[in-house]
Amino acid sequence: MKNLDFYYKKAIKQGFALGAFNFSNLETLKAIAQTAEATKSPAIIAVSEGALEYFGAQFVLANFSVVKKLFKAPLFLHLDHGKSFEICKKCVDLGFDSVMIDASQLEFDENVALTKKVCDYAHKKGVMVEGELGQIAGIEDNLSNEENHFTNPVQAKLFVEKTKVDSLAVAIGTSHGAYKYAGESKLRFDILSEIEKCLPNFPLVLHGASSVDQTLVKSINKLGGKIKGARGVDEKLTKLAIENHNVVKINIDTDLRMAFTEGVRSSLKEHPENIDQRKYCLEGQKGVEKVVRHKIDNLLNSANKK
Ligand code: G3H
Ligand code: 13P
Ligand code: ZN
Repeated sequence: MKNLDFYYKKAIKQGFALGAFNFSNLETLKAIAQTAEATKSPAIIAVSEGALEYFGAQFVLANFSVVKKLFKAPLFLHLDHGKSFEICKKCVDLGFDSVMIDASQLEFDENVALTKKVCDYAHKKGVMVEGELGQIAGIEDNLSNEENHFTNPVQAKLFVEKTKVDSLAVAIGTSHGAYKYAGESKLRFDILSEIEKCLPNFPLVLHGASSVDQTLVKSINKLGGKIKGARGVDEKLTKLAIENHNVVKINIDTDLRMAFTEGVRSSLKEHPENIDQRKYCLEGQKGVEKVVRHKIDNLLNSANKK
């Protein structure tokens, strides 16, 4: 099978991106894998440290290997936001395709040292590494609009040279979770263009890229949820970043969580007598499938790229 590096290169040449879809239940994993197969799209299955802890690493591996056998799509297992050398080493040793070392909270030199340490180890075993420079926060941290938290393009070049990282997560105005912007969404394309100039043809990653579909927000709130004011990144902006700026990996978690929650809530509302979790989880799964298909077809343009 072609490796992730092959798809990153292809994505840069052809102006598409791979979805890095987080999963934290089996219905979501299945939804991602079968939609990737149906659309002939490569996809990254992302597991956070929290998800690893929730399932247990062996459970994640076993289920990933089952979906890889069952669904004929190029699927890659990726550690999302690994915070230490130890967790990255563990995932490399377990056979993950790729790990992210997120040392973005550290000072530049310390970030370089830790990211390099992970790269030195992972590369010997053929595993790819994503680093992060700048801070991709949540609006509640009051960081997203502060100049000094965006990625510095000159530092980005230095960071890649020193660490030999394979891809770089950049901070250009996105943030994690369902509450990204108080008003209109904005991305700093000026910074992205500078990064691209400093790092030509280098794979860039956008975290916090959920669009937080307002129809789902309204529906969840109507069904008893409380996510008032939830707002994401306009997909038109993310699409521009993919088509024109070497962004080859788009991280999506919140949109999948919302779709699953909406499916479950509406199923339970319609059938309050039901206690069979297969019935309401299936509605959650269908919601996730719809979102993954929408992203692949309308945002990522990764269909038929397998
Ligand atoms: O970027 C983080 C992902 O959304 C994973 O979140 O740590 O709650 O699993 P989590
Ligand atoms: P969202 O919260 O926007 O889905 O971002 C997910 C993410 O970046 C996972 O690493
Ligand atoms: Zn992230």
